[in-house]
Amino acid sequence: MDRYGVIGHPIRHSRSPAIHQHFALLTGQPLSYERIEGTLEGFESEVIRFFAAGGLGLNVTLPFKERAFALAVERSPRAQVARAANTLGMTLEGTLWADNTDGEGLVRDMTLNLGVTLAGSRVLVLGAGGAARGIVQPLLKAGIAQLDIANRTLMRAQTLVRELESVSNEVPCHAFSWSEIPEHPYEVVINATSTAVAGDMPPLPATLFDQRTLAYDLGYGKGPTPFLELARQAGAGQMEDGLGMLVEQAAESFYLWRGIRPPGAEVLRALRAACH
Ligand code: ATR
Repeated sequence: MDRYGVIGHPIRHSRSPAIHQHFALLTGQPLSYERIEGTLEGFESEVIRFFAAGGLGLNVTLPFKERAFALAVERSPRAQVARAANTLGMTLEGTLWADNTDGEGLVRDMTLNLGVTLAGSRVLVLGAGGAARGIVQPLLKAGIAQLDIANRTLMRAQTLVRELESVSNEVPCHAFSWSEIPEHPYEVVINATSTAVAGDMPPLPATLFDQRTLAYDLGYGKGPTPFLELARQAGAGQMEDGLGMLVEQAAESFYLWRGIRPPGAEVLRALRAACH
């Protein structure tokens, strides 16, 4: 059976095996998908060993995404902007390739599952760390009209904007510090900070949100995240967590490996039902 897996540390709570096994079932693809507990000392040799033993593809999660990117020989443009990879595979010639499907997963969740029109919309991303890097390039490619990136540390947002401008200058991108966030409504506001974990989202102007705003948190958990709660109180029309992105980034990896698109929406429905 064709072998795939996810490597991370810790890995026991990963939902990827359940998602990929569901994809395999729905598409009739005979494959196995396992959890691999990576080690901080040995990540690179563990990946090489997996492929040398005939493994066909790996998803990579915290804290190894940057190391996976560094290890690969061929890297997609979106992985280069992210400087991180969540998907590894091997070419027929035996070359290790890296891609990052997080941003495409987000865009597909928004447009296909949530029915949001990204084309022409003004988008604000909160955060300029690894999670933000992972999503910005596919957002620009989705035809948005404007991308604003706000970060507690302004310089990090400025660096990211400069890098994006060197890749493509079709969409205006601007960097803001937290206190300078423009006080007008956006069509989409995305929380890419790690505050969902810390639970301490700093104050945002209430004027960011109106009835037409989609507030999207890359994080997810039981109940609304602090950011989504704040957006709801400020009058955002739609609040969504990152479970849909989790499923769609997995679907994009599956597509890269197998050339078949699994039904993400169906698996997302099953996952939500299982969570409630
Ligand atoms: P990740 O891979 O989850 O993105 P990261 O690269 O460490 O992790 O980035 C964390 C992001 O959350 C950064 O944008 C960080 O802001 P700084 O660059 O100023 O550190 C942001 N962040 C974390 N805690 C925050 C808080 N309490 N308030 C605002 N932003 C926060």
